[in-house]
Amino acid sequence: MASLVVVTGGSAGLGRALLEAAPEGSYRVDVSRSGPPPVADEHVAADLGDPAAWKPVGQRIEQLIGQRQWTRVTLVHCAGTLEPIGFAGEVDSRDYTANLLVNAASSLALGQRFLVAVASAGSDARCELALVSSGAARSTYLGWSAYGAAKAAGDQWVRVVGAEQQERGGVRVLSVAPGVVATGMQAMIRDTDPHDFPAVEKFRELYETGALTDPADAAAAFWRVLDDDEVLTGSVVDLRDR
Ligand SMILES: NC(=O)c1ccc[n+]([C@@H]2O[C@H](COP(=O)([O-])OP(=O)(O)OC[C@H]3O[C@@H](n4cnc5c(N)ncnc54)[C@H](OP(=O)(O)O)[C@@H]3O)[C@@H](O)[C@H]2O)c1
Repeated sequence: MASLVVVTGGSAGLGRALLEAAPEGSYRVDVSRSGPPPVADEHVAADLGDPAAWKPVGQRIEQLIGQRQWTRVTLVHCAGTLEPIGFAGEVDSRDYTANLLVNAASSLALGQRFLVAVASAGSDARCELALVSSGAARSTYLGWSAYGAAKAAGDQWVRVVGAEQQERGGVRVLSVAPGVVATGMQAMIRDTDPHDFPAVEKFRELYETGALTDPADAAAAFWRVLDDDEVLTGSVVDLRDR
């Protein structure tokens, strides 16, 4: 009886904490550029900003699903980047495109490959796919246009694909926003010039008032959502509302 847990962006921050908090005895797989973290059983090296990487990553996940009689198979797409922070008309176009590829396109393309892999494996396992969302999917943060739009795209993908899987499929598909978590990404936000990110002071204040969530606490709350059958497929959840 074993669980397979694949986390993209498992090398750091929330992704690493999600691997650490995975059910005991899980086979833990990190997909990132710089991993693996010590807790991972396997590292799949990939730059998800490169579309050529999506196929081999999907193939390895498909192999893993078929390799054993898993009781549970979980993919959390946690890899993400805020860079380049700045107004859309002022940042480098190559960097902007790379942001969209990591945050938007790789989420949906890898998610789709996961659904196909589960369907072709014909596995009896409980299967779930979670995208990591953000409050930026709904709030208007100047300087985060690609990031916010990408997270909103992920939310809508989850609503549609979750409904599809409800009808035919069987993968539970969720989008989960973790709140403001004390990771390298938050440190990077606080260092940004207000010219590029006018809301920077809000994030400095959250840090100074101790309002950031510890990654281990965010990961535990994230797993409680994954474990909770009352959170139905297609749900878009914000951990701050729970
Ligand atoms: N921290 C927050 O307050 C917060 C709030 C809302 C949502 N989120 C979301 O939570 C997720 C994790 O963020 P975090 O705060 O933990 O950030 P982080 O500490 O900066 O970690 C980002 C992770 O994404 C991976 N990653 C970035 N670009 C990648 C690429 N091109 N290919 C493969 N992996 C890549 C990194 O791995 P490598 O560098 O090793 O490749 C790293 O493991 C993100 O989706 C973020 O949008 C965070």
